[in-house]
Amino acid sequence: MKMSADLPVQADDELPARYTKETRATKISLVLPPDTNHHGTMFGGKLMAYIDDVATISATRLARHPVVTASTDSVDFLKPVKQGNSVCVESYVTWSGKTSMEVFVKVTTEDLLTGDRAICTMAFLTFVALDEQGHPTRVPRIIPETPQEIELYETAPERMAARRERRAKQLELVANLGVKRHWEY
Ligand SMILES: CC(C)(COP(=O)(O)OP(=O)(O)OC[C@H]1O[C@@H](n2cnc3c(N)ncnc32)[C@H](O)[C@@H]1OP(=O)(O)O)[C@@H](O)C(=O)NCCC(=O)NCCS
Repeated sequence: MKMSADLPVQADDELPARYTKETRATKISLVLPPDTNHHGTMFGGKLMAYIDDVATISATRLARHPVVTASTDSVDFLKPVKQGNSVCVESYVTWSGKTSMEVFVKVTTEDLLTGDRAICTMAFLTFVALDEQGHPTRVPRIIPETPQEIELYETAPERMAARRERRAKQLELVANLGVKRHWEY
């Protein structure tokens, strides 16, 4: 993949592109009792909130506009995060469209007594940048540099196409669902 040494300017709207590394965000926390369930492992919902927080920072670093989460791809919890261990949530923008951005998040846990680490989960989230009126607004192009950044950049359009298809099907389903509560039928 050919990369220019200079920051290219997006042809149509003059937004200067940003390097992927400029969008990196990290949060490392010690897992304490308020964050854990009765198994002594971190609540899935709490971890998802961390993922959304950190990914929001990455997306906002690219857009330099307020952003909203448009979607989160499936989040599979591969390993539990145990009380007393640390949890590290890392993210960066992999790709940007017209107004949307894909953010990759990797979550690792560390046993602080042994130093053993494991990947707990990973996720792709899509954010949309908003202007002052709350309408989607243009975002800069992203310039990947490392082999992992380049791989995720090059494979992003395929993931975006799958999301568009899923969204279209969901909108079709929603159109037929109605807003009645179950006891109102
Ligand atoms: C996300 C949202 C702003 C999209 O607005 P919209 O008027 O439907 O805008 P569009 O259909 O033009 O889509 C705008 C962009 O978002 C993308 N997009 C919209 N919904 C998406 C989804 N579910 N998954 C992936 N991308 C999505 C579109 O592909 C488009 O991308 P592009 O501009 O890069 O080509 C709107 O649906 C919304 O406000 N949703 C609620 C968000 C929210 O409350 N999040 C939780 C709290 S932060």
